[in-house]
Amino acid sequence: MLVNIGQLATLRASAAGPRRGASLSELGIIEDAAVLCLGGNIVSVGTTKDALCDRWLKKNRKKVTEIDCGGRVVLPGFVDSHTHPVFMQPRLVDFEKRIAGAGYEEIAEAGGGIRSSLEGVRQASKAVLADKVLHTLSDLAKHGTTTVEAKSGYGLSLESELKSLEVIRAAARQWPGTVVPTFLGAHVVPPEYRGRSQTYVEIVCKEMIPAVAKAKLASFVDVFCDRGAFSEKETATIFGAAAAHGVGVRAHLGQLSVPSAGFVDSLVQHCRPASLDHMDYLNEADLPALAASDTVATMVPGANYFLGLSRYPDARRLISAGVAVALATDYNPGTSPTISMPMAMSLACTHMKMSPSEAIAAATVNGAWALGLADCKGSIEPGKDADLAVFDVRDYREIPYWFGVNRCVQTIISGVAQS
Ligand code: NIG
Ligand code: FE
Repeated sequence: MLVNIGQLATLRASAAGPRRGASLSELGIIEDAAVLCLGGNIVSVGTTKDALCDRWLKKNRKKVTEIDCGGRVVLPGFVDSHTHPVFMQPRLVDFEKRIAGAGYEEIAEAGGGIRSSLEGVRQASKAVLADKVLHTLSDLAKHGTTTVEAKSGYGLSLESELKSLEVIRAAARQWPGTVVPTFLGAHVVPPEYRGRSQTYVEIVCKEMIPAVAKAKLASFVDVFCDRGAFSEKETATIFGAAAAHGVGVRAHLGQLSVPSAGFVDSLVQHCRPASLDHMDYLNEADLPALAASDTVATMVPGANYFLGLSRYPDARRLISAGVAVALATDYNPGTSPTISMPMAMSLACTHMKMSPSEAIAAATVNGAWALGLADCKGSIEPGKDADLAVFDVRDYREIPYWFGVNRCVQTIISGVAQS
């Protein structure tokens, strides 16, 4: 039982579906709050005073582990709905090249970027990779994240993509939080298929997706649909293969170029992606269809920050159009080497003009919607999983305010306080 919570942001549901428009800023705050968890679930949420008067609790007080939050702020554990944790090395040469003036796409064309991470993953043993992923997961938890989507995508051969997903599964089994695995075999065309993207797409569709689905290694299939990666047509083909094998879909879209008019509309109609991510470039004409769907637009400002871009996703335009938006870290070695959801939220506030309360909802409940987990994650309500994060601040607005430091002092996963 958590008691003496200064501000508890419950994010309790105000309407059905992901948060949009004005409901994005409704945090459902309870002051002087308490949360009782039992068997990994939240059983009651209210004021500390009411909790202490509860008859059951009075009788069972000795059996209950009490965490005195001392007036601090408690949120639902963050749902980081977009990460790429299976890689070996940081990409320091690209980092320095960019500082010296080279662009992300220019570096990728010259053999850097995603392709330069392939060799490390292809050669690494499962044990070594799993150790790295587990380390990342523990780091995420220390910063308040309790649910993580984790993509493959730095192997790009049948064998090394399966290995990456097996590594995610192995690490997830050793971590108390929740991991949602995603197959990103369509990250870029690997060098051995250069100029033959059609052949590679066939391998993705006919060999990789069936193998991934058969071994139940992924909940989603993702495609990097953009200039220099996969075309809209190829994306639709890959999504078709995912659907044929009963796997959900999501995409990286609009990071480098504007999707063609009607593409998002047709995706949400025919493929129902759980989420479309980045969305730095939008097509105004597609916003009504996106707003009318449950597809979440996931913005990852860590990538804009790290690439030194002045352009950020137009969160205000998406929110005012009624699109459900989420925030994620996009943790990866090329564009966003951060595991910090508060950092992503801070960037959303300072560069995308989202309010602190909108950023919190986008990082919790809407992240859960983006992963199809809204029934058990993303808010502090009876019946949901007892995943919570305690921050050493007095006001929830301080969470995106203090940037570059970790104010998360305690993470509770399935009702268990992590050390
Ligand atoms: O989300 N855009 C595609 N994928 C990653 C970048 C991957 C990389 O550069 O390693 C992203 O930004
Ligand atoms: Fe990404």
